Amino acid sequence: MPELHDQIPTREKVLIIGAGPAGLAAAASLKALEVPFDIVDRADHVGGIWDPEREDSPIWPTMEMISSREQTQYEDLLQPVSFPEFLTPAHMAKYLRAYASRHGITDHFRPRTAVRAARPFEEGVWEVELSTGEIGIYRAVISAHGISQRPHRPDWAADVPGTVQVMHSSEWTGADGLEGRRVLVVGSGQSAADIAVDAARRALEVRWSMRTGHWVVPRRIAGIPGDVASAREPAMLGGLNARIAETVVRRTVGDPVEAGLPRPAQPLLEDRVIVSDDLLQRVREGRITPVGEVQGVDAEGVVTHARGRDAFGTDTYRADLIVLATGYETGADHLPEDLVPRTASGESDLFLGAFARGRDDLVILGQQRVSGGVLPLLVEQADIAAYMLAATRDGGTSPALEQFRRVRGGAEAAIPARPAPASGGLRGRLETAVGTRRVTPREVPSGAGAREGLVPAVDRETQLARLRSVRSLFG
Ligand SMILES: Cc1cc2nc3c(=O)[nH]c(=O)nc-3n(C[C@H](O)[C@H](O)[C@H](O)COP(=O)(O)OP(=O)(O)OC[C@H]3O[C@@H](n4cnc5c(N)ncnc54)[C@H](O)[C@@H]3O)c2cc1C
Ligand SMILES: NC(=O)c1ccc[n+]([C@@H]2O[C@H](COP(=O)([O-])OP(=O)(O)OC[C@H]3O[C@@H](n4cnc5c(N)ncnc54)[C@H](OP(=O)(O)O)[C@@H]3O)[C@@H](O)[C@H]2O)c1
Repeated sequence: MPELHDQIPTREKVLIIGAGPAGLAAAASLKALEVPFDIVDRADHVGGIWDPEREDSPIWPTMEMISSREQTQYEDLLQPVSFPEFLTPAHMAKYLRAYASRHGITDHFRPRTAVRAARPFEEGVWEVELSTGEIGIYRAVISAHGISQRPHRPDWAADVPGTVQVMHSSEWTGADGLEGRRVLVVGSGQSAADIAVDAARRALEVRWSMRTGHWVVPRRIAGIPGDVASAREPAMLGGLNARIAETVVRRTVGDPVEAGLPRPAQPLLEDRVIVSDDLLQRVREGRITPVGEVQGVDAEGVVTHARGRDAFGTDTYRADLIVLATGYETGADHLPEDLVPRTASGESDLFLGAFARGRDDLVILGQQRVSGGVLPLLVEQADIAAYMLAATRDGGTSPALEQFRRVRGGAEAAIPARPAPASGGLRGRLETAVGTRRVTPREVPSGAGAREGLVPAVDRETQLARLRSVRSLFG
């Protein structure tokens, strides 16, 4: 078991699996309520995927984060103003290590230790098997394993012959060596867009296969980071009707359809937008050629894909490299598959994306994609988890916990998505620094992704408002 900084038996502790931004948020929250815990990660350092030295991380050193500095910080340790407005992975790694050190989390942290299996015997008794061969009992588990454990590959990818190089976006390291090569990028999300732009710097040719059209929004709107503008000043985006918001976006980066991309499937304010200042320009320049969905691949590695937006029929393409930027599936190998039941649409039935219904000893953090910074969401989930685990310590309960249990058993839609105060919580929220002042409740339509078991997407502001409502049950 983790080399203990204290003498508390593990059966009285919570085990946090994963020391990324979510695991660190959980650790800080548990610490604030004096709930004993250990935290392990298979990596060498805290910080999760945000480690440019980490070979198994899906990020690549030259990428820029899409969330702004303001939406990518904990309230009790603001990002240094000397850091760029959109951080690089190296800046984020530095920040997260500083956060762990500031909260003394490093004392509870065991690196290079994977959890092979975590199984509940009964409520409050978890058997945990580590990669070291050790087996221990914990009273609860917070699994903060991230969203990139299970890269998703389309079925046809299995038919690509060995003569064509295929990689998932999680293996992308940059465009070096692509000179003279033909690249096919598959997927309609942020990874696909970023990789297509990156590849187009070097490759001979880049085709981009999209099955769904999305809006492309700039990093900054009127000089303000787009995520700050939409979270803090809804009058700039969310408060106005969608048509005006779309006009603002068209005037900055341009219209995706005019550039040659498929028509966005959703109005701007409901879409899982792509954030990019360069993408549409590269498409207009002809350095990225948008095409339709891949239909299949033959024994020679020739891909058949639907033609672009305005053309019927199919085309073929022989790429030297295929990048599958097709997202990630939910679930984790260390948890029993049937631990969390599925909803009718195939998604894990977790209350507010994190809380196992009907049990107080399991929380799974960070299992949702959002447009913009995810940290504020992780912090709210971590606080609720800590309040719950503090209340259940020694088999106890409290009126707030009873109320939480009742709400957790019901429908999320019943939770008011009205603006909940950003202030409060275990970190003393700084409403002016990070927070939603007003909310335009929106549901993100679940698409084909749910059928394929992809990590679900939610509307950030709606989810934040709901989490804050629930967190306020605990005071
Ligand atoms: C390419 C990419 C770019 C992104 N860009 C942004 C962005 O700009 N802004 C933003 O807000 N979000 C972004 N995200 C979302 C990202 O998921 C969050 O920023 C953040 O990393 C989530 O933190 P986490 O702790 O949930 O997960 P992670 O950072 O993934 O950390 C999970 C940790 O759990 C560990 N782990 C998993 N299973 C085990 C196990 N069995 N035993 C031990 N350890 C285990 C892993 O080793 C890992 O260190 C991006 C995601 C990707 C994939
Ligand atoms: N610069 C950055 O900060 C940065 C860079 C990359 C990623 N990210 C973040 O990382 C997270 C993951 O992003 P991601 O782009 O890797 O994954 P993603 O958001 O899940 O997108 C995956 C895309 O693949 C498509 N897809 C899935 N299966 C497919 C199939 N069988 N055939 C064709 N297309 C298929 C999906 O199409 P549909 O649209 O039809 O569902 C979706 O658009 C997101 O939160 C994102 O914001 C950030």
